[in-house]
Amino acid sequence: MKRVFSAVRPSGELQLGNYLGAIKQWVEMQDEYDCIFAIADYHAITTEYDPKTFQQKVKDHMLFYLASGIDPQKCTLFIQSQNSNHTELAWILDTITTVSELQRMTQFKDKSQKEKVISAGLFNYPVLMAADILIYQTDVVPVGEDQKQHVEIAADIAKRFNHRYGEVFKIPEVKLVKETARIMSLTDPTKKMSKTGEDRSRINLSDADDVIMKKIMSAVTDSGKEIEYVEDKPAISNLLRIYSAYSGEPIEQIVAKFEGKGYADFKNSLAEVIIKKIGPIREKKIELEKDEELYKKTIFEGLEKAEIISRETLEKAKKAAGLI
Ligand code: TYM
Repeated sequence: MKRVFSAVRPSGELQLGNYLGAIKQWVEMQDEYDCIFAIADYHAITTEYDPKTFQQKVKDHMLFYLASGIDPQKCTLFIQSQNSNHTELAWILDTITTVSELQRMTQFKDKSQKEKVISAGLFNYPVLMAADILIYQTDVVPVGEDQKQHVEIAADIAKRFNHRYGEVFKIPEVKLVKETARIMSLTDPTKKMSKTGEDRSRINLSDADDVIMKKIMSAVTDSGKEIEYVEDKPAISNLLRIYSAYSGEPIEQIVAKFEGKGYADFKNSLAEVIIKKIGPIREKKIELEKDEELYKKTIFEGLEKAEIISRETLEKAKKAAGLI
């Protein structure tokens, strides 16, 4: 069985882009692949965060995985910082990664412009991510578009290590779903929807139905009145992709359905389609919160499995590099 690894950074609120770009793929893959999904808390602390509410954020993210349909009986679920094998491997990988290749990372360039102080952790972020992936001998990494470059550098690092010290790592491949790999902001279709953007620019998985309706109804649109899937209508095209991903209808069919109708009709219907899918996830998550043991049990059992697999690769890598 091929292995899948992916993770979400528990910064801000889980939003619709995370779900459509990543988590939805994970749910669909869990029957066919040996899936390992983590909460990347060590990645989240590379930018400003609140330590007081952080544990709650980590837990909320994991419960949203479960509420979205990730089955802990089928998948290995754990919290990244609880498995120290990742950071140990990251150090070794740091020594074969160059400063110039990390300087080329788009996400680093973007984020370092926004942060007041740029930490070394933010700079080394892709190396820890490479360790996350490589330590499980991962075949496939299902992510959104913004993480593609990080999976590619992980593959480069793996090849370099294997070349220098002997075959240790599998070379991972990225998996994107074309239509939903880059969901754009509701307030600015030139920017991607992000957990840390202003609240009205995104739909959070925790948003109440009326909030979803309000955010969609006030989402920016393009000039004109037609519902069209064309390049010079980036806002409507983004909404059409979201509509299609949630309803399962092909985009052309949705366009045909709204021919001659205005933006308000379309948006109203889109909000209903989203609410129909997000509502039950939100409610399920609230229900799962009541089960005190579920979270602890899930991450404890997941960690046990993750540690065994990752320990084996770490030892191989240390041996190959002459460290043991
Ligand atoms: P993060 O937390 O920023 O995002 C989690 C996942 O959601 C996808 N995503 C999107 N997809 C489509 N449209 C959007 N607007 C959108 N915004 C986010 C991301 O591409 C990602 O798949 N560094 C990673 C977490 C990580 C990881 C890993 C991922 C840590 N280790 C190993 C894969 C493998 C991150 O910060 O993702």
